[in-house]
Amino acid sequence: MTVTIVGSQLGDEGKGGIVDLYGDDVDVVARYQGGDNAGHTVVHEGEEYKLSLVPSGAIRGKVGVLGNGCVVNPRTLFDEIDTLQERGLDPDVRIAERAHVILPFHRVLDGIEEELKSETDDEVGTTGRGIGPTYEDKAGRRGVRVGDLLDPDVLRERLEYVVPQKRAVVEDVYDLDVDELDDPDAFDVDAVFEEFREFGRRFEAEDMTVNAGAFLSATIDEGQNVMLEGAQGTIIDIDHGNYPYVTSSNPTAGGAATGTGLSPGVVGDGEVIGIVKAYLTRVGSGPLPTELGGVVGDTPGYDEQGEGENEELANYIREEGGEYGTVTGRPRRVGWLDLPMLRHSTRVSGFTGIAINHLDVLAGLDEVKVGHTYTLDGEELASMPATTEQWAKCEANFRSFDGWPEVDWADAAEEGYDALPENAKAYVEYIESELDTPAYAIGVGPGRGETIVREQPF
Ligand code: GDP
Ligand code: IMO
Ligand code: MG
Repeated sequence: MTVTIVGSQLGDEGKGGIVDLYGDDVDVVARYQGGDNAGHTVVHEGEEYKLSLVPSGAIRGKVGVLGNGCVVNPRTLFDEIDTLQERGLDPDVRIAERAHVILPFHRVLDGIEEELKSETDDEVGTTGRGIGPTYEDKAGRRGVRVGDLLDPDVLRERLEYVVPQKRAVVEDVYDLDVDELDDPDAFDVDAVFEEFREFGRRFEAEDMTVNAGAFLSATIDEGQNVMLEGAQGTIIDIDHGNYPYVTSSNPTAGGAATGTGLSPGVVGDGEVIGIVKAYLTRVGSGPLPTELGGVVGDTPGYDEQGEGENEELANYIREEGGEYGTVTGRPRRVGWLDLPMLRHSTRVSGFTGIAINHLDVLAGLDEVKVGHTYTLDGEELASMPATTEQWAKCEANFRSFDGWPEVDWADAAEEGYDALPENAKAYVEYIESELDTPAYAIGVGPGRGETIVREQPF
């Protein structure tokens, strides 16, 4: 069977930790979208691993697959594999032949477009990894796929079409001189060909490429368990998120089918677990109706959003939760839990269960608030409106919970749910009841031993 892990908010909900938690019963962990914009943290035997591309199961020796819905930067992938090997692991990673390749010019173009948009404060605050430009080329039918790296003639043909076109975009649309960019080789067919052909040779030598759908279907037919690991989160989904402040893929459960080649029936027959952070964080621009203030340097779009108010509280939660981007190190914006957002996520992905993380971070506060509904133009809303402009106008109607004390979380995790402070349980039960979805796991610290497990999905 399959278990699909989906971020229910804005990314960084602790997906990597939950993939790890349930990883023992899994044979294969497959990513279905995104690329090295993701930053998933796994704490294993006291060691912290930060993974951008390699699926989180690799830490426990599971086969990892990067599905066709992913965009793969081979530079990052091999760096990550080499680093894991230096740390004594032997990651077994297979890459879909249909996955698209992030080429050096994609990163450059990501940077140029963000820079241009920043002149009018419209930047998305991307991770700068070239994610959007690569998905653009995929949709524009001019992309390079992993399978193409194995065939020098096809690779050259594709590059000869796309590279000069990108050079022209830089020069004629953005009016920049390619030779004055940091990485002019990104726009040189021969340089890109040489480097990426070499990656293709390594893929071939290490037998890393697969037909992901066929491989995963066969795995399931043999009775093995497959975990589908989402990156990012529902509100930065390109279809169901707050466009245009989104990533360029589908982190929601539908993406698990298109992004792996497993049928929707197979994904739907399994469990879909929504990962919920007990409060909100956001890196990058866009509205956040339950945002707490807090001046966090030059986070794009931040200044317009609630600066000042509740600044101390935001800073406190940011420090307690270590809320700095895994990939970019940017301070994360902080807000209270947002129930209209979670009702939307639960509907879009059909969560069969949720995992609520970071309950420990809120311990010690006198009061914990949640946005229970919104008011928009005098009307009360239980779920998110479809346009970002409307969402930005939503005012949260808060509910207040009494805080809970700091306890020994590892002890509490061992003893089980009943060992949680009463007020923390009231908070969990409120979320379960509003979403009509049981909490399978409750995170009370970064390690696996700091998670209360109430349900084993496999
Ligand atoms: P992901 O992108 O969804 O996998 O999440 P990240 O790894 O980017 O961010 C989550 C961070 O919170 C990591 O540093 C985790 O180790 C940590 N973490 C996960 N669950 C918990 C929890 O329940 N409590 C605390 N304090 N930290 C957690
Ligand atoms: P994980 O998997 C949080 C955000 C960026 C930006 C927007 C678009 O660790 O949860 P992109 O580089 O994808 O074009 O940026 O999406 N973003 C994330 N935010 N967690 C992530 O991944 C993210 N991946 C992208 O900050 O706002
Ligand atoms: Mg992350």
